[in-house]
Amino acid sequence: MAGVPVPAAAVDPAQIDAALERLEAGQLVAFPTETVYGLGGDARNPAAIEAIFELKGRPRSHPVIVHVAPGTGLRAWAREIPAAAEVLIERFWPGPLTLVLLRASGVADALTGGQDTVALRCPAHPVALALLAGLAARHPGAGVAAPSANRFGRISPTRAEHVRDEFGSALMVLDGGPAQVGIESTILDLSRLSTLGPVLLRPGAIGAAELAEVLGMPIRARDARAPRTSGNLAAHYAPLAPLRLVAASELLQVPVNVGVWSYSVTAPPDHNAWQRAPSDPLHYAHELYATLRGFDRLGVSAIWIEAPPEGPGWAAIADRLSRAAAGAPGAAGAAGGAADPGNALGA
Ligand code: TXA
Ligand code: MG
Repeated sequence: MAGVPVPAAAVDPAQIDAALERLEAGQLVAFPTETVYGLGGDARNPAAIEAIFELKGRPRSHPVIVHVAPGTGLRAWAREIPAAAEVLIERFWPGPLTLVLLRASGVADALTGGQDTVALRCPAHPVALALLAGLAARHPGAGVAAPSANRFGRISPTRAEHVRDEFGSALMVLDGGPAQVGIESTILDLSRLSTLGPVLLRPGAIGAAELAEVLGMPIRARDARAPRTSGNLAAHYAPLAPLRLVAASELLQVPVNVGVWSYSVTAPPDHNAWQRAPSDPLHYAHELYATLRGFDRLGVSAIWIEAPPEGPGWAAIADRLSRAAAGAPGAAGAAGGAADPGNALGA
């Protein structure tokens, strides 16, 4: 699986039961996945979905992923399961891949942003799987609606303490340790297969080349008519301090009190907030969001990140970093989240 090795997280059955009771009562529970932590509610309960939007401060037009247990009857959510979806589910679920399919009748508008599609994912984390299997055992076909457990536009949480920092102690958080992958799932749109083929809506740990190879067909880049994806706002995933992507040579003139994350340049002895970044993409992704949050906690005046190397393994990281740079205070795209030029529906 795409991700760094992490110790297996313990599943506490009493905690899972307590979480299930909350979900059944329409309350929210934050839970770990292998990508980032999710802010979950019962996907069949419109009041729970409303509570997610309210707590996150997220515009109601932005759809939410439904998380399902392995082997769940997907027909409750999607009215067509194309053969391509079955191939990908077989190969990559549980795992960091979200599939956008045509929604079944009865799926709440609040989940889909009123669009005709629904996003489905089966995460590969023992705690998430215990929660999803527990809910499906009590209510066959049920799923957990969950965006990343952060306030809208902010950095996704990769540890339980990040979720507590965002929302305080009133929210139940299942602690599953540091998220293995560290960046959000790959999102592939299969809702327009017959006309367009598969369309990549958000890059992630499972790359386009791997998807193309498994499917035996090319993957298209996102187009202007693609279903809305809020991670596609140009300004998203932003730390509090302004973030710049810089060349290694620029780091020689970095001011003090600027947080630096560089994979190739060693810290000068007198710099107070310089961290060495991993030089492989798996470890880099695993540490990225915790590093940005760490700089915010230090109260640095700005964050300078050495532009990551190019190459397929780095595509999702480059995507998140450019959005973080666009979303940080002072950046052109910062005020309220400018739409990505590649996504006319982005705002
Ligand atoms: O790794 C992940 O995907 C994490 C974990 C918690 O599963 N979830 C996550 O959720 O990143 P969120 O809501 O922060 O980002 C999901 C993205 C959003 O940009 C949303 O607009 C898009 O998925 N999305 C959800 N439903 C969609 C749909 N029907 N069509 C197109 N995009 C959709
Ligand atoms: Mg998010």
